[in-house]
Amino acid sequence: MCGIVGYIGNQEAAPILIKGLKSLEYRGYDSAGVSIYNDKINSVKTKGRLSNLEKKLDTVSLNGCIGIGHTRWATHGEPSDVNSHPHMNSTSTISLVHNGIIENYMVLKEELEANGHNFLSETDTEVAVQLVDYYYKQSNNLLDAVYKAIERIEGSYAFGVLCNDEPDKLIAARKDSPLIIGIGEGENFIASDIPAILEHTRDIYLLEDKEVAVVTTEDITIMDMNKNIINKEVFNVTWDICAAQKEGYDHYMLKEIYEQPKVIKDTLTPRLPLDVNNITLDNITLTKEVLRNINKIYIVACGTASYTGLVGKFLIEKIARIPVVADVASEFRYKEPILDEKTLMIVVSQSGETADTLAALRLAKKAGAHVISIVNVVGSTISREADDVLYTLAGPEIAVASTKAYSAQLCAMYLLSIKIGMELEKISQEEFIELRKELYLLPEKVEKVLEQSDAIKKLANKYINSKNVFYIGRGLDFAVSMEGALKLKEIAYLHAEPYAAGELKHGPIALIEDNSLLVGLTAYEQLYEKTVSNIKEVKARGANVLAIALEGNTEIDKIANDVIYVPRTHWMFTSILENIPQQLFAYYISVGLGHDVDKPRNLAKSVTVE
Ligand code: AGP
Repeated sequence: MCGIVGYIGNQEAAPILIKGLKSLEYRGYDSAGVSIYNDKINSVKTKGRLSNLEKKLDTVSLNGCIGIGHTRWATHGEPSDVNSHPHMNSTSTISLVHNGIIENYMVLKEELEANGHNFLSETDTEVAVQLVDYYYKQSNNLLDAVYKAIERIEGSYAFGVLCNDEPDKLIAARKDSPLIIGIGEGENFIASDIPAILEHTRDIYLLEDKEVAVVTTEDITIMDMNKNIINKEVFNVTWDICAAQKEGYDHYMLKEIYEQPKVIKDTLTPRLPLDVNNITLDNITLTKEVLRNINKIYIVACGTASYTGLVGKFLIEKIARIPVVADVASEFRYKEPILDEKTLMIVVSQSGETADTLAALRLAKKAGAHVISIVNVVGSTISREADDVLYTLAGPEIAVASTKAYSAQLCAMYLLSIKIGMELEKISQEEFIELRKELYLLPEKVEKVLEQSDAIKKLANKYINSKNVFYIGRGLDFAVSMEGALKLKEIAYLHAEPYAAGELKHGPIALIEDNSLLVGLTAYEQLYEKTVSNIKEVKARGANVLAIALEGNTEIDKIANDVIYVPRTHWMFTSILENIPQQLFAYYISVGLGHDVDKPRNLAKSVTVE
């Protein structure tokens, strides 16, 4: 996600901003920029790495002791110079940087355009600075203008704001996206994250949601939304830089597992506005007319992404009664698949650069199929070559093993499945409202599963010496078992096999012996009884069974050796909850075995070769 650094003091701001942004590079970014005040605000920003920005800065001497800097992880609008932050108002008297997602940016943009504001970029952030400008023109007071703007904004934000006419201050504001204030001597800082300012100070204020700070050289004033001053405790940072980049987590993977409630919220809520009873899939047209021309859907991806394709297949076929083929991209194009203009292809890719998936996309397009991509990296090759893109808003996923991106991909599948169902009148307005309500509850339900982390760690240590592990399930549970087994393979290096529960007795059960470990997924209630029968079959042959079940299940603990319960939800959405224990189980076994969790052997984050 984006990185923010701000400085106000008596040193040259540019080197402090650049060095601070470099310490935030781990957050992933595709462009960068700075604004520095020296009689007026001067801004330099560019697509690409910070080295590109430094080259540009070498050609213009940006002097000044107050400034803001930004590294952008694109969510709205391709990576480009014009979409980079900081964004300015039309008279270049206000400069703003932002981390987060403004969910109602289109409504605000239309309102501002109607009031004569012109926009240069495709970003939601430019709406924020223009909104501040709109209110500043009325009040001639930056703090008031920022307050009025954030009262209108829905979504998540961490803002840093600089103003020509009030150059003695920076204003910082946050809601859902992290922002801290660094306390210096004769100087002060703002930043998205501790590493950016750790070289200058270990004393910080942690801004909470809906707090606003006025930061000058000598003072820091923090207020609530009613401008009541808040007396905050100083937080003293004891971490080293490396730990700080993981925000205190031991590994990026664990940090990203814990980011999932926010990722799910960020991916779902902008597409599920509460003021209209429909799904807004960005610019994707999936109308009844389009769907009536479709007689087959392919969902094609690799690895973890391909397992969300299995979930999508199950949901779309069950809801829309359209045939869906879910396939791995490395096989797909060699099967001479039957593709034409009546085919809809959905490709799924976190990186948006996976060679096999890109090849499948190109084959489909060549045959006249319509291709929708579900991608995490804005502006990636797959997102650009597909006809449509539904971005997962997971932010950069640093750990090689995918966790939050998988959950965000599932959210995208839920949205697409429901949209198709609604357009084909298989889901009524009332049913949609119920589904939307349940989707809004998913983040807090994921939080509840994450609260069991310590218990799951104990189970990981209990089963850490397992040699062959089976993950079994039926229906949606079978699709989720694929992801559970892959996690254990790729980070714990244990042989783990996903299997359709009903298929075990057709051979693989011969592998079951005393102390074999079997993870039984039972959240898909329509086939629960049958899965439990299969669990009993392996239990009777000496296996240890770790079951994942829905809360309220009172019998499974009499059958399994151990049970992890997940909150109840609509049957369509059990996958996202059921997978969290699998992520944590694999993570803690990998840590217990002393493996490199974030960079497992032999693996790459983006497989750009066939
Ligand atoms: C996920 O844990 C793996 N690292 C891998 O299976 C990954 O999902 C696969 O390579 C696809 O990558 P993509 O989503 O970037 O296309």
